[in-house]
Amino acid sequence: MSFPRVETSRGELRIHDSLDDLSTDLVEYISEISEASVKERGVFTIALSGGSLIDMLGKLCDAPFSKTIDWGKWYIFWVDERVVAKSHADSNYKLAKEGLLNKVPVIPSHVHSINDSLSAEEAASEYEFEIRQLVKSRLISVSDINDCPKFDLILLGMGPDGHVASLFPNHSALKVKHEWITFITDSPKPPPERITFTMPVINSASNVAVVVTGGSKAEAFRLAIDTRDVGPKSLGLPARMVQPTKGKLVWFVDKQAALKLDGVEFS
Ligand code: 6PG
Repeated sequence: MSFPRVETSRGELRIHDSLDDLSTDLVEYISEISEASVKERGVFTIALSGGSLIDMLGKLCDAPFSKTIDWGKWYIFWVDERVVAKSHADSNYKLAKEGLLNKVPVIPSHVHSINDSLSAEEAASEYEFEIRQLVKSRLISVSDINDCPKFDLILLGMGPDGHVASLFPNHSALKVKHEWITFITDSPKPPPERITFTMPVINSASNVAVVVTGGSKAEAFRLAIDTRDVGPKSLGLPARMVQPTKGKLVWFVDKQAALKLDGVEFS
């Protein structure tokens, strides 16, 4: 089904022959973390991104996952969101709602989406406030080393430019350290207005999974995990900055995205 899993200093690599294998592995992984979190804390907090990742989560709606997952314990958040109406085709909320949330018995009040009637700045600040309340009540855990929320699982995609969430290469939002959620109004990828978790929040999660598929991402993916490459391009790459401080990082990759790994030695 896949190449062996490889443990590297940049996390675990799972390289798959097909998107079908990759998505099966991804949903098994999500279901295991969900089960472990519910067992340990009684809840499972998951933050979603947009992109093709959501299509892959479609398998969660099928047996056996649809029946075995404790959906009532899921609390759902968004790593990033485009500042558009929830009914807009660009909305990450709409994508997840139609691709997953409408099809499984999650509790509507557990779905924490962004307020789409506000400006990007206001929406970011309101979303951060909402998450702060849930950290105070310990529904969301808190990091042991800073005051950041510790989500049980953060799911990320990666663009061909190496962006993750709405954190783009060379953008000032990448440097935000003391806020949990920030906003941008000049996204290089449309739509321009977005809100996003900051890198410290991503790196405080218990588990971070990054899904990378397609040949257009092969070079950015190599830069993200080749620790011998210390050029400015690689060090400034958002995907390279994904380094959970205490959590576990797993890369779900297809063969095309892994094409440039030949010769990379993993330390
Ligand atoms: C966005 C997208 C984006 C996406 C990556 C990977 O907000 O513009 O959500 O960040 O996650 O570009 O997308 P694909 O997996 O579809 O290539």
